[in-house]
Amino acid sequence: MTVPVITIDGPGGSGKGTIAHELAARLGWHCLDSGALYRITAVMGERRGIALDDEPALVALVNTLPILFEAGRILVDGTDLADAIRSEAAGTGASRVGALPGLRAALLQRQRDFASPPGLVADGRDMGTVVFPAAPLKVYLTASAEERANRRYNQLINKGEGVSLPALLEDIRARDERDIARPVAPLRPAEDAVHIDSTAMTIREVVDTVLAEAARRGLFAQAG
Ligand code: DC
Repeated sequence: MTVPVITIDGPGGSGKGTIAHELAARLGWHCLDSGALYRITAVMGERRGIALDDEPALVALVNTLPILFEAGRILVDGTDLADAIRSEAAGTGASRVGALPGLRAALLQRQRDFASPPGLVADGRDMGTVVFPAAPLKVYLTASAEERANRRYNQLINKGEGVSLPALLEDIRARDERDIARPVAPLRPAEDAVHIDSTAMTIREVVDTVLAEAARRGLFAQAG
């Protein structure tokens, strides 16, 4: 039996993570936060003194690293990294290690293993183009860079972190550029992706739009 997969790709801050979790909860499916794997690689690489462009050492690291996602915790070699990987530095590090082809290849099977019954919602940059090219529903979620910077700003302020909005906007633009320009698995929509611009939409509206597409494709028994 093939497991249904819904892929949600798009730039950072487009709301992919929130939408993917909501969708998975509504459908009772599993959820893959692929960005977390790149963030974990960057954080653990730094903790172990590995340069973020030392591809062989990073590949060896991820090939041997025990990672367990369970109920909001991300246990990496026994330590919960759920908070540590959410920093801006971890995001920038993730974008750097994500440009290494050998590292992407090393993470491929680990990502595919998340596809188990009754279904999977997978969030990232290359879920529909590389990791799950046969997925029956692919979404490309965007929002303007200004709106994404605003959302991130509010998240960080709520966490009590002091940040500057112009610096965040600059960081978001630089990360977009790096993710789009890299030769391996660049950020781009799959040819058969449904495009959703979330700039002026609520989370609920985006989730309902994706559920309606899933229902239209017969991916679950009842329309959401
Ligand atoms: O989605 P995120 O912000 O957690 O991703 C952080 C970085 O990880 C992103 O800037 C690029 C990289 N990444 C990737 O290369 N491929 C993915 N499927 C997911 C993330």
